[in-house]
Amino acid sequence: MSVICVIGTGYVGLVTGTCLADMGNQVTCVDIVPEKIERLKQGVLPIYEPGLKELVERNVRADRLRFTTSYAEGLKDSEFIFIAVNTPPDNTAGGADMRYVESAARNIAEELDHYAIIINKSTVPVGSGDFVSRVVRNNLQRPDVRFSVVSNPEFLAEGSAVRDCQNPDRIVLGSSEPEAAQKVAHLYLPLRAPIVVTDLYTAEMVKYASNAFLATKISFINEIAQICERLGADVKEVAVGMGYDRRIGSGMLGAGLGYGGSCFPKDVRALAHMADEAGLHPQMLHAVMEINHDQRRLVVAKLTNILGSLRGCTIGLLGLAFKANTDDMREAPSVDIIRWVTAQGAVVRAYDPVAMETGRFSLEQEGVRLDAVTFCETAYEVAENADAVVVVTDWNEFKSLNMQQIRDSMRRPVLVDGRNIYEPAEMNHLGFIYRGIGRGT
Ligand code: UGA
Repeated sequence: MSVICVIGTGYVGLVTGTCLADMGNQVTCVDIVPEKIERLKQGVLPIYEPGLKELVERNVRADRLRFTTSYAEGLKDSEFIFIAVNTPPDNTAGGADMRYVESAARNIAEELDHYAIIINKSTVPVGSGDFVSRVVRNNLQRPDVRFSVVSNPEFLAEGSAVRDCQNPDRIVLGSSEPEAAQKVAHLYLPLRAPIVVTDLYTAEMVKYASNAFLATKISFINEIAQICERLGADVKEVAVGMGYDRRIGSGMLGAGLGYGGSCFPKDVRALAHMADEAGLHPQMLHAVMEINHDQRRLVVAKLTNILGSLRGCTIGLLGLAFKANTDDMREAPSVDIIRWVTAQGAVVRAYDPVAMETGRFSLEQEGVRLDAVTFCETAYEVAENADAVVVVTDWNEFKSLNMQQIRDSMRRPVLVDGRNIYEPAEMNHLGFIYRGIGRGT
């Protein structure tokens, strides 16, 4: 059993802290937002993540998991201090805003009174481990106190975060002090995952390179989808055929609206930015970003190809969240699509199984005209008198809808499937004018 402090109760912090507690450790999660901590103490989670609430409750009941706003309380006796605060994009062309990491490091330095290993879980630009070391060293209240810094990037995906955390493909640890990295490795031994121990810079790079590679797979398959569409092939089956090759793998080959969320867009931009700053021109990363942006426009182009002008049309949107099983709206394609179709004079009817509140909030924040958007209670309501329905998020709920009922309630039976969740032949048979992404139709 180890005593652990986790700074930040966002996706990464809360999931990591809870999973570490579930492995039998004593974990205290610290967050500077008092309302968040108050709510967590009452069992109210700041995020929607399948399985997390039960896990938090179980570990709080066992008194292995605590929440506080006090660094002093969190750091008391802690051997490991995880920094898991967010690093949002900054105002430059793609850099990361290190403000929260810096303030976490400062706060740690002010309270630390014993040796501890500070572990960076936040996605930070390569070289940030040194930055954290510097900030802690320069702000230590007790300059005699020793500490080590280890980079331990996280690889969990929203919607499957608990599973990813409990069954990781690998653990990556980087440090200039191999003994410190080994101690952290020990913490993860019960997970029986391969552990890669390397230097700080390399560990930080593994995170960016992994996300950029996955994003590249998505842009690649989206480009193939466009070619399939022209040449009459079906990208969904092409992906299946490719995926069996173990060198390729079947993941991240789903053509559609491209990647969104808080990670891929930010991390690909940040990696390209780091490369640009280093005097390189990372051509592939720039192409990946360009293709991703075009995918969203493509869906709107499909609508105008069928409907002609969108003026006066009602466009139904199935899904708002950037992907299924989350209420996260960061860089969600729905925002761009709503912005573009309403700018062309259409009105929108939208429904998402969990992202209604976050959806409305984000649209407002992004300056989208809310008077042109009706938030519906069900997927069926979205379709009522719609001139077209667009599948934006691949929620399971949408895969088992009564599509006959949907079609019958629409003004025009246009179905643009931005996530390829339906079969073209079935939809055509039901009388839809169906357009998927790269499905030879
Ligand atoms: C991603 C990575 O998958 C995690 O490994 C990583 O830890 C995380 O970023 C992070 O850096 O924190 P996440 O953004 O939660 O996780 O979601 P993904 O499931 O990877 O999906 C990202 C985007 O790609 C979504 O918009 C999704 O719709 C899209 N996507 C995914 C596709 O368009 N096609 C696919 O085949 C798969």
